[in-house]
Amino acid sequence: MALLEVTDLSVSFDTTDGTVNAVSGVSFALDKGETLGIVGESGSGKSQLSFAIMGLLARNGTARGSVRFNGKEILNAPPSVINPIRANQIAMVFQDPMTSLNPYMRVSDQMAEVLVHHKGMRRSEAVREAVRMLEAVKIPDAAGRIGLYPHEFSGGMRQRVMIAMSLLCRPELLIADEPTTALDVTVQAQIIMLLAELQRDFGMATILITHDLGVVAGFCEDVLVLYGGQVMEQSPVDPLFMAPSHPYTRGLLKAIPRVDHEGDELDSIPGSPPNMTNAPKGCPFAPRCDYSAEDCFDHLDPLIEFAPGRWRACNRTLEELA
Ligand SMILES: Nc1ncnc2c1ncn2[C@@H]1O[C@H](COP(=O)(O)OP(=O)(O)O)[C@@H](O)[C@H]1O
Ligand SMILES: [Mg+2]
Repeated sequence: MALLEVTDLSVSFDTTDGTVNAVSGVSFALDKGETLGIVGESGSGKSQLSFAIMGLLARNGTARGSVRFNGKEILNAPPSVINPIRANQIAMVFQDPMTSLNPYMRVSDQMAEVLVHHKGMRRSEAVREAVRMLEAVKIPDAAGRIGLYPHEFSGGMRQRVMIAMSLLCRPELLIADEPTTALDVTVQAQIIMLLAELQRDFGMATILITHDLGVVAGFCEDVLVLYGGQVMEQSPVDPLFMAPSHPYTRGLLKAIPRVDHEGDELDSIPGSPPNMTNAPKGCPFAPRCDYSAEDCFDHLDPLIEFAPGRWRACNRTLEELA
């Protein structure tokens, strides 16, 4: 049994302008300790996909399909089912640490509160465990700094505090949604390295969400490429980097900054992501795709397994795409 099994998950929003189909028919499975990268440009549906899993959609949102965690259906589950899982078994880290940290509470109090509330620890024991967790995320002088307020930490250190907080209950699954996007490049790399190390040490399954395909390379075993809320390509990470198959994946790969391309302009994909309100039928990437044919605007090809374990929503043959 997979730890997390997502089947045909769709998310739509009712708005005054019409229906926004933010996520359409996404399926994947994640075993214990596995790592999955979800990659796509801004607006691809990455965050709404994870919010649906966690039961955190906005009021105008509807989720359909199935999300099983340890075999139990959790999609649209009542609070009595989802709350204990959210607190103890699935943790989330966001781009902005301040969405999870209380600015008016000392870090020691916030972290201890989690352990007192969810693990029934005594306060002194909880603070000791919190210090250990701050040490695990490599905050220097953790014992001395745990009494600070969140704003007294730098951006990178604050993100470390949030990661420590999310790991307090030893979750089986960590969902990190653009955890480094707000940080500068050096700090980004440090945080990703830290996450990879923690993932190994704690053995938790991890979903890393990012708009930057480069970030998943050293971190994830599998990658799901999302565009316009739909899966474009799904593949183990190594073959995806060696031979990206879907035209969109190829575009993302070209857009990764490379050290050996010093000074060159990045080849970002021309055009912009689709407006998801009343989105036209057809492949969402067709208007920006160098290889699109007329029928690409009519329908999105179903995902086909074009090589063992590799799936692509594009029927053009590899020769055509070469
Ligand atoms: N509450 C909402 N109402 C209407 N549309 C929404 C709402 N929340 C998100 N969306 C839309 O859902 C789409 C996917 O958003 P999101 O998952 O946040 O993208 P990503 O995380 O990949 O940048 C976007 O088009 C966004 O505008
Ligand atoms: Mg997002």
